[in-house]
Amino acid sequence: MAAGKGFKIACIGAGNVGATLAQYCLEMELGDVVLTDIVEGMPQGKALDLTQAGPIRGYSCTAVGTNDYADIRGADLVMVTAGLPRKPGMSRLDLLEKNGAIIAGICDEIRAHAPDAVVIIITNPLDVMVYLAFKKLGFPPARVMGMAGCLDSARMRAFVAMELGVSMTNVDTMVLGSHGDDMVPLPQYTTVSGIPITRLLPQERIDAIVERTRKGGGEIVQLLKTGSAYYAPAASAARMAQAILRDEKQLLPCAAYLTGQYGLDDIFMGVPCILGKDGVERILELELTEQERQSLHRSAGEVRTGIAGLQERGIL
Ligand SMILES: NC(=O)c1ccc[n+]([C@@H]2O[C@H](COP(=O)([O-])OP(=O)(O)OC[C@H]3O[C@@H](n4cnc5c(N)ncnc54)[C@H](O)[C@@H]3O)[C@@H](O)[C@H]2O)c1
Repeated sequence: MAAGKGFKIACIGAGNVGATLAQYCLEMELGDVVLTDIVEGMPQGKALDLTQAGPIRGYSCTAVGTNDYADIRGADLVMVTAGLPRKPGMSRLDLLEKNGAIIAGICDEIRAHAPDAVVIIITNPLDVMVYLAFKKLGFPPARVMGMAGCLDSARMRAFVAMELGVSMTNVDTMVLGSHGDDMVPLPQYTTVSGIPITRLLPQERIDAIVERTRKGGGEIVQLLKTGSAYYAPAASAARMAQAILRDEKQLLPCAAYLTGQYGLDDIFMGVPCILGKDGVERILELELTEQERQSLHRSAGEVRTGIAGLQERGIL
């Protein structure tokens, strides 16, 4: 991806996450946005509405809405939010079959119209959907990734800041693993302006924050009753988009393709990545405790169950 030009960003799925993501991309002036959905008129209406917010919010990037995938032609970055969200009582894996079929179809369109794009998958069950997308797209692994760790880490940052009464921007965290209840928040790599939280909070409060982070998405699903979270998910995807389009070399947790790192192979899992113009430019291997390593492998087991589910249904 050439740095410094006006970028074309395709947001596929113009629902809660997709439309909010489009809004953030425009407000951050990351590039012109193409908002795509199967519902006729809806992406066009939202794109027009977003364009009309431009003079007041002070952005000059444009948004167009479409039902025609040909309009994503030449996109530098494609972010996929199309698919069903969770309802109360549903796990992310319950979405497997329907969202799997949707992602498989969308990948054919991306391959046809935006073969050089970096692709970020957001649709759940995240780690399984990004694996499916990687296999269907046939793109190099650096150009396919999933958004989850950024969101899970942001949730943990917020919970630590709320607990300590400090600024959220002072808190740094790292959450690895799959985007599910088996995710692996890492208190040993969580700091407040460089001070490890293990020096600031008793173990039982840290355990409570870890547990609330793991269930962070479910807490919002229960409150909303229809649909799932979208402001923080969209903000997290926009953060990844910024790192890639501006070639920032940001260290962010993303679902990346593993080839032996952390003892895992041929699977997408949330790991610390350096994001730049080429996508996932590097994966960092952190030293983990035995318990954290076991949690990561347990989380990988859950993802492999999802992949097997797709294979049984003939989607993969
Ligand atoms: N990775 C994460 O951390 C994370 C966080 C939040 C939500 N999600 C997931 O993101 C997805 C979207 O959530 P949402 O709240 O925006 O849902 P939503 O129902 O508001 O929007 C989904 C949109 O996808 C569209 N769609 C369906 N099939 C399509 C297709 N083939 N092509 C284009 N568009 C299509 C629908 O018409 C709808 O507008 C869900 O799967 C949700 O679970 C993931």
